Amino acid sequence: MLNKKVEKILNEQIEKEGYSSNLYLAMASWAEKEGFAGIAQWLYAQADEERIHMLKFITFINERGGHAIIPAFKQPQVKFEGIKKMFEQVLEHENFITKSINDIVTLVIKENDYATNNWIQWFVTEQMEEELNVQTILDKINLVGDKNLYLFDRDIMSLRTVV
Ligand code: FEO
Repeated sequence: MLNKKVEKILNEQIEKEGYSSNLYLAMASWAEKEGFAGIAQWLYAQADEERIHMLKFITFINERGGHAIIPAFKQPQVKFEGIKKMFEQVLEHENFITKSINDIVTLVIKENDYATNNWIQWFVTEQMEEELNVQTILDKINLVGDKNLYLFDRDIMSLRTVV
């Protein structure tokens, strides 16, 4: 059974994961309009993953006797300043998500909620992988240059690790 503090912080994470999904959808849509079909495909796939993360929180809260609340999401930005800037933003956002997952770990340890601590560890690992994936993409962009992304756009999906 979840205590109220744990239920609250897990519900807050539903919003963060759902917003992540929408943010990556907004990025995908912008990249598609700019002609970057591969990058858009990567971002659409990332948005799907974030939705699955959100669903994991919803299911876990309900299964543990809480009530998962589906929140409103603020609208993500519509336009982005360039591919490199956009992926820097993805990394910054993932760092923010990592911090929020770490905050959950801190709370569940404090509350002696070992079951949730055990469950949330999947996300701890997932965040390490996501940060690494995005950093790899940024390294490649820095290598080829922000103005020379034609081949990168074709190859980006090969950098995707399937979870
Ligand atoms: Fe679900 Fe990328 O954090």
